[in-house]
Amino acid sequence: MTGFEKYIPFVPQPIENRTWPDKQITHAPVWCSVDLRDGNQALIDPMNVEEKLELFHCLVDIGVKEIEVGFPSASDTEYLFLRTLIEDGHIPDDVTIQVLVQARPHLIRRTFQAIEGCKHVIFHFYNSTSTLQRKVVFRTDVEGVKKIAVDAAEMIYEMSQPFLASGMDLRYEYSPESFMGTEMDAADEICAAVLDALHADEAHKVILNLPTTVENCLPNQFADELEYFIRNLPGRERAIISLHPHNDRGTGVATAELGLLAGGERIEATLFGNGERTGNVDMVTLAMNMYTQGIDPELDFSDINKIRDVYEKVTKMRVGERQPYVGKLVFTAFSGSHQDAINKGVQYMAESGTDKWEVPYLPIDPADVGRAYEPIIRINSQSGKGGTAFVMAHNFGFNLPKAMHPEFGAIVQHETDRVGKELLPEAIFQLFRKEYLEVDGPYQLLRHQFHEQMVDGKSHVTFEGTLRHKETVFEVAGEGNGPIDAFFNAIHGQRMDKYTFADYSEHAINTGSDSQAVAYIHLKTKENQDIFGVGIDHNISLASIKGVLCAINRAWWKEKELELAGQAQS
Ligand code: KIV
Ligand code: ZN
Repeated sequence: MTGFEKYIPFVPQPIENRTWPDKQITHAPVWCSVDLRDGNQALIDPMNVEEKLELFHCLVDIGVKEIEVGFPSASDTEYLFLRTLIEDGHIPDDVTIQVLVQARPHLIRRTFQAIEGCKHVIFHFYNSTSTLQRKVVFRTDVEGVKKIAVDAAEMIYEMSQPFLASGMDLRYEYSPESFMGTEMDAADEICAAVLDALHADEAHKVILNLPTTVENCLPNQFADELEYFIRNLPGRERAIISLHPHNDRGTGVATAELGLLAGGERIEATLFGNGERTGNVDMVTLAMNMYTQGIDPELDFSDINKIRDVYEKVTKMRVGERQPYVGKLVFTAFSGSHQDAINKGVQYMAESGTDKWEVPYLPIDPADVGRAYEPIIRINSQSGKGGTAFVMAHNFGFNLPKAMHPEFGAIVQHETDRVGKELLPEAIFQLFRKEYLEVDGPYQLLRHQFHEQMVDGKSHVTFEGTLRHKETVFEVAGEGNGPIDAFFNAIHGQRMDKYTFADYSEHAINTGSDSQAVAYIHLKTKENQDIFGVGIDHNISLASIKGVLCAINRAWWKEKELELAGQAQS
């Protein structure tokens, strides 16, 4: 048979009065990293001891307190890595290492040898319990897989006694592998028998790790299974319920989240979701999802790029560009309307003084994961004027007045159309510099003098200066209630006075002793067209005069361009 008919649909676990849909995630689970085991076994080139050590320290720095370090009975490298961790003192006192072993006597013995001398250990054993595995792999029934689990549990309990007596903090973890495909009543029966064999009680809880070894159903169906399982587990208080989702349907995160609602207390996950096939559940996404809901995930991802670099180096895997919270493009908005909204959100936050993150299209402040605002907006031909203004403000500290956004936005738009690709922030700044800061005459201020005084509580400014227009040098002088007013009065009667003053704004750029002021001048032409100028200087009065001259010169060049265009047409 070919096609979809050959697949057996998942059979949901019936459950009455499910409670998980009304619950909320309110706190972080216990995190266990399985990067060095499940993640490692799924690499084309598994990590060597040095690489494992580097990742181990990275996990410790993130704040993971339970780390599955490998399968020490499986290979010499795995064994050696654990011994190196123990003998070279790499394991902080507050970190518990976890070792995995199949429920098989000779492997259990070898694993006990490997943990010698370790302070805090979780001894994790597993066997498959699902209907399918029983049928096609083990060719046995529920009793058969239960016996494998209980025999292993009894052996582990016996073998652990001398270690416990010597003061080792040793706990047990059991995984009914492929739990999601096991009948829940059978899973309860097997797990309860394992708890008995391990003498579990409230003071000596055993971790029951319930893997979604292969994701085979909707996350809500998994949550139903889980709630049913926990409700019917004899002596539930003897267990810590741990989840171990894989991601075959791409819903590992949702499965983990609904699983937490349904009673999960602990999560086994990997950084960026590395693991068998489609991977394990992604610890970063899960933790940061909590973070964006105002919950402390108790893991530190404040320098996500550094963590990604370590991960990529040791695993030789690549983090995707759209990977939540870390991908290269996840803080980039291409759409103009998104950019406008981001701009407004940031502006709103500054103006309102809110201490909450209220920026549309950015579920998280990029700075919280050590990402800069810089790559948030890249301007392409779809981007609006707001995006351009945002880049100028956040990348370069120039708060262009709102009325100026259309003018500069159009200049940027024209350039993106001309080059046919997106413009990076630096290219946008070059355009700004060329258009406003490097305007080449024809009017130039050669010399000037301001005299400012207060007369009857009012500011009174006189301006005297020498200007040049092409080859002509001329003196001007004027008075006014401020530098711009005095300057306009000074140029009265010159050809420069055909513009009227519309608006002005200024702010400081750079801080400290080198602080400069930038002034934005808005003039109107006789035809009532807007024209803007920008001036920068240490002296705020001079910055505004430079801004006026910039606007006048730009208007002059525009007129020239129109004249030339007219001549070319006639
Ligand atoms: O996915 C799985 O079932 C596992 C177990 C060994 C815990 O990795
Ligand atoms: Zn797994």
